[in-house]
Amino acid sequence: MQITATSRNPASLSSACSIIPLYAGRRLRGRSQAFDDIDDAAGGYLSQAAHNAGFAADFNKTLVLHTPQPRHKTVILIGLGKRKEMNRQRFDRIARSAAHAAAALKPASVLYCFSGARPKDERHATRQLATALQHACYRYLSTRGATKGKRKDKLRIERCVFHAEDVAQARAAIRESEGIAHGINLARELGDLPPNVCTPAYMAEQARKLGRSSGKLRVRVLSETNMERLGMGAFMAVSRGSHVPGCLVCLEYRGGPARQRPVALIGKGITFDTGGISIKPSAAMDEMKFDMCGAASVLGTIAACVRLRLPLNVVAVLACAENMPGGRASRPGDIVKTMSGQTVEILNTDAEGRLVLCDALTWVGRFKPECVVDVATLTGACVVALGNEASGLMSNDQALAEQLLAAGESAGDRTWQLPLWDEYQPQLSSNFADMANIGGRWAGTITAACFLSRFAENYRWAHLDIAGVAWYTGKNKGATGRPVPLLTEFLLDRADA
Ligand code: BES
Ligand code: MN
Ligand code: ZN
Repeated sequence: MQITATSRNPASLSSACSIIPLYAGRRLRGRSQAFDDIDDAAGGYLSQAAHNAGFAADFNKTLVLHTPQPRHKTVILIGLGKRKEMNRQRFDRIARSAAHAAAALKPASVLYCFSGARPKDERHATRQLATALQHACYRYLSTRGATKGKRKDKLRIERCVFHAEDVAQARAAIRESEGIAHGINLARELGDLPPNVCTPAYMAEQARKLGRSSGKLRVRVLSETNMERLGMGAFMAVSRGSHVPGCLVCLEYRGGPARQRPVALIGKGITFDTGGISIKPSAAMDEMKFDMCGAASVLGTIAACVRLRLPLNVVAVLACAENMPGGRASRPGDIVKTMSGQTVEILNTDAEGRLVLCDALTWVGRFKPECVVDVATLTGACVVALGNEASGLMSNDQALAEQLLAAGESAGDRTWQLPLWDEYQPQLSSNFADMANIGGRWAGTITAACFLSRFAENYRWAHLDIAGVAWYTGKNKGATGRPVPLLTEFLLDRADA
């Protein structure tokens, strides 16, 4: 899709699908220049048809009109509701609805006429609109039959034009959205691929492929033998249960000055989580192919950094393994030694995410990171607590937590902080090792983070539990690409500072 911006009058442009927002009010005319101009060109058709349909521009209501005006065959009106109630969250919902309404029509071109109804920050608004459109245009096709699925679902929006007052600003916003959307859709594709295709080796290959696309990126893959030698006993306790070998993928993006300490991102990459010997119930177990979405979002974020030529150093670590039962799998009661030297009693083999992450947290210390953010589909408890709206955030550094909270707000990819108080730590006590890998029934999201915190004592660290936001369930089952928007925003903010 080619996305451009222009300041020419929307009525003089031509598009298969024009999207016009309107604030609520008694009369539709006189409130959007684009609406009035296109309405005039169509001989008053828009205002008449909208009136007949009882369209009052209520918040997030859309109306699709097929006009007699050949330059604007299809017009989507979208209600912004009351002007004083508009905010970033509401605007993001508008962006998503507009994109879905447009994508559903499968037009060849789309025209956005938002400049008249512009919110406070036009650059941000354009970026969110453009990202949402590219999000809505994602189609998972890789493993679908060539005849049925692929053709039926084919969607080709070739062009998208933004009417803007400040064209230079809009172009910058569009460029930013293209980087972010590329990262999001890469993460979604990896999440959606089946677990027999998207293995740790496949993740490593995708990282290498990305590495070949940029001179600023160096990719290394640690094998199980390497990890064994490094003393990563916790990681190996998970990985050795599967015939598919695990690996630790390391990407070093050098966009900043050589001496600048990197931001480190770590992603949980369990390509399938059966639970191991503490096996999961079979209902919806297929969704545990999404247990690598943390790693996918970290890789997607690096892909965005490359596209955006971000002037920052970033290290990414993908902790990839499969969690399977089997003759070599860990047993409940096994005690393993982590790379940090601390020992862990594995009381539940289904709490495997923290086991692969703890060794990755120790290993990443060698980069002397400015800060470390790990991203993981870590606990079902987080879905119970926060549902599908927000990821869970826990940190040993409040300034870092606040940067992530702000980035999430602004990117429309929100996170919500939970406490990481010392008082929770005793829940991890073990009679036989330095700690157990589970903390009992209560505050499961927090005790998982408490476990990780014991391996993150030497740097500023934050943990994002994305179990509730990484994929949609039900009819729209599929990866969301979250939290690529949050992470990219966080890095963009740092590059600005
Ligand atoms: N990958 C799961 C967490 C998960 C479950 C994410 C359901 C999304 C939906 C993780 O490895 C896991 O199994 N966690 C256990 C931890 C427990 C054994 C302490 C959980 O949440 O039940
Ligand atoms: Mn598990
Ligand atoms: Zn898991």
